[in-house]
Amino acid sequence: MTKRIGILTSGGDCAGLNATIRAVALRAQHGYGWTTVGLRYGTLGLLERPVDAVTLDPARLDAALARQGGTFLGSTNRGDPFAFPMPDGSKKDRSGEMVEGLKLLGLEGLIGVGGDGSLAILRRLLASSGIPFVGVPKTIDNDVGYTERAVGYSTAVAIATEALDRLQPTGASHERTMVLEVMGRDAGHIAIAAAIAGGADVVLIPEVRWHLERVVSRIARLRAAGRTSALVVVAEAAGQSDEAADPATDAPDRGVGDWLAKRLVKATGAEARATVLGHVQRGAMPTAEDRLLAAALGVRAVDLLAEGKADHMVAWWNRQVIDVPLEKVVGRSQTVDPDGTLIRTARALDICLGDTA
Ligand code: F6P
Repeated sequence: MTKRIGILTSGGDCAGLNATIRAVALRAQHGYGWTTVGLRYGTLGLLERPVDAVTLDPARLDAALARQGGTFLGSTNRGDPFAFPMPDGSKKDRSGEMVEGLKLLGLEGLIGVGGDGSLAILRRLLASSGIPFVGVPKTIDNDVGYTERAVGYSTAVAIATEALDRLQPTGASHERTMVLEVMGRDAGHIAIAAAIAGGADVVLIPEVRWHLERVVSRIARLRAAGRTSALVVVAEAAGQSDEAADPATDAPDRGVGDWLAKRLVKATGAEARATVLGHVQRGAMPTAEDRLLAAALGVRAVDLLAEGKADHMVAWWNRQVIDVPLEKVVGRSQTVDPDGTLIRTARALDICLGDTA
């Protein structure tokens, strides 16, 4: 009998998920003669009877799939098996039904592609099933610990950088301060990387305590030096710093970018506009870097199952794929190191982080 393994994508989608699924199915078939079953909508498909899953035919997973954004299996970020949201608003433990779904599929291993939260949930679910589990890190936020990169991050940074490239000429033409709000959940990885790559004047991230008046001073300094426009990048969670510390009463519905642009207009007298990049950062053709990462991590995830090395996450570290025990990873999200290379680089390029003018 051919061994059957499953794969699912969980949490917010990002570019590179299809490339990961493809790599897993190809490695399983060509490396070990295994069949790969794709679970639909993360763990949600496991609640359906018959289970909502599809047997993947590697011959049909051509390179065009690796170029596509999103996940053709679907995903969910609302379906905690242990506190599943019910229509009446209550929460129910439905992990038993999901484990039963896994058994009905006859799976002998599962690869879960997810961020920190999804990997923690899947690890717990699979532990109660006795089915070996291996995780693959993906998230535009790049906040999964013990890996330098997660699938989807490179593409998100490329999109945010391109947004700055597009905002700069319109800002300059109209003598405006252009504020770009980027995603990242509680971390500023996308913001700091895009700010450096896109030549921003200011970048505000949750990891560095910033002050509105220092941003204002920086913009005034630029103007005094003859510059009539400015590029400001703000991470979605940066509003939790300093003056923006009271989101309940102060932060507008549209987010910190909008909040900041309004304050800058008031304080500098110059025009400002906010752009909230939002989900645009998730839905694109993956960069070559993300496709490569997806391929390398997907292949190694199957190899780990073959080696019997379950309860691990594959990771990218020091130019190669390694594996890390999941217990070291989950619950320890990785934010930007305030003394790290990217912050030091930004400061060296005279990008204002809002802590000094
Ligand atoms: O974790 C990925 C992410 O895109 C975050 O950057 C963002 O805060 C969140 O998901 C948005 O979630 P949703 O898709 O539920 O709006």
